[in-house]
Amino acid sequence: MDKYIINGGEKLYGKVDIQCAKNAVLPLLAASVLTDEPVKIRGVPAINDAENMLGILDEVGCKIKRQRDCTVIDSSNAASPEISTRLTKELRSSVFMLGSILTRFHRAKISYPGGCDIGLRPIDLHLSGLKKLGVRIAEKDGYIHCETDKLQGAEILLDFPSVGATENILLAAVKAEGVTVIRNAAKEPEIIDLQNFLTGMGAKVSGAGGSTIVVEGVKRLHGVEYTPIGDRIEAGTYLIAAASCGGEIETKGVFPENIAALLHKLRENGCKIHTKNDKIILTSNGRLKAVDLVETMPFPGFPTDLQAQYSALSCTATGTTLVVENLFETRYRYAAELKRMGADITVRGRVAFIRGVERLHGAFLTAGDLRGGAALVLAALKAEGESTVANLYHIDRGYADFEDKLRKLGAKIRRIRV
Ligand code: UD1
Repeated sequence: MDKYIINGGEKLYGKVDIQCAKNAVLPLLAASVLTDEPVKIRGVPAINDAENMLGILDEVGCKIKRQRDCTVIDSSNAASPEISTRLTKELRSSVFMLGSILTRFHRAKISYPGGCDIGLRPIDLHLSGLKKLGVRIAEKDGYIHCETDKLQGAEILLDFPSVGATENILLAAVKAEGVTVIRNAAKEPEIIDLQNFLTGMGAKVSGAGGSTIVVEGVKRLHGVEYTPIGDRIEAGTYLIAAASCGGEIETKGVFPENIAALLHKLRENGCKIHTKNDKIILTSNGRLKAVDLVETMPFPGFPTDLQAQYSALSCTATGTTLVVENLFETRYRYAAELKRMGADITVRGRVAFIRGVERLHGAFLTAGDLRGGAALVLAALKAEGESTVANLYHIDRGYADFEDKLRKLGAKIRRIRV
């Protein structure tokens, strides 16, 4: 397994182009089986999660062509409503396929999804939404078996604004008979992107970005050519890196309103931030003051996917930061690794107390999940001396060209291929 060798202490300067959002691309790839016509998605990032999703599409029977910056998915011969354990184990988003496979075949068999090991991650909301649309569901031998005679529009109230459940229900509702209303829907920008993609295919969907989404089922969907939105979590990761190490960087490709909660905190930390269209320019002297409280929330609150990286920054900020993780119960595994570097963190359940220390020192670190792994890299960039970050396959799930982009900003980081 590959590892990074990082020599910390460099300030970061320069520009970084942000990739298309992992969490936008994955549901769009799932949605591509909704039509017989070719779907073209530009800018699919070179990350393992996207590769695994393409692997699932291949298993379903789609033909996939890569043309320079464009991925073409032709589902005209898609024939299999089954997804094997091998692929779902790697990728939790494989569960989004349920909605689109059901639309396509009226039946689906999929094993329980995997992905980051950051908590229980149940899928009860996905399944109860699908049941409302007329799907019969049986769980047997680790597989979810779904079947329907006809998908029928329905009123669905989500107990929690789950991103995945909202997307899955949308994918099952676009060609259902009649109208589906999703209340307490997730409001994440990636949901708006999915709505735009689906309306580009001829679907009638409105309301995404708000808490009520209305879907009027249509008979047919056609092909579409689409560029997904920029990855707000990737942009946030580079901005946190520069805030923590000091320097000045400009990210391009993410609109500031999509990471307003992070920008607000970074300003409180003492960074200067200017924005223009999809550019965010951050300046930091690398000596930050701690903010009192960071609490993860569904959008537009502070994203859980930036909690680990922001906690890494807080380790050397002056003062104490209280972090509350409201979405995923075991998302502090990285804390034990940061402690090896001299961080002062106490975790109790969903809460982490981080007392800022003068400096972190290099250490041998092991990534345990995608964002926790990124947090270790950020801490190593700030630390004095050399660090090793092992188990890079976690980080490769979500960041394309991570070390190249960081090196261009001035970081001393190299990958050792093992
Ligand atoms: C998506 C993102 C992930 C992000 C998360 C929250 C993708 C591919 N992944 O994950 O990066 O961290 O949103 O912003 O887009 N829940 C249930 N029952 C369900 C579904 C969810 O109880 O059926 C709970 C979860 O345990 C969690 C909360 O709802 O506590 C949020 O999960 P959800 O929004 O569904 O996250 P994902 O779609 O899995």
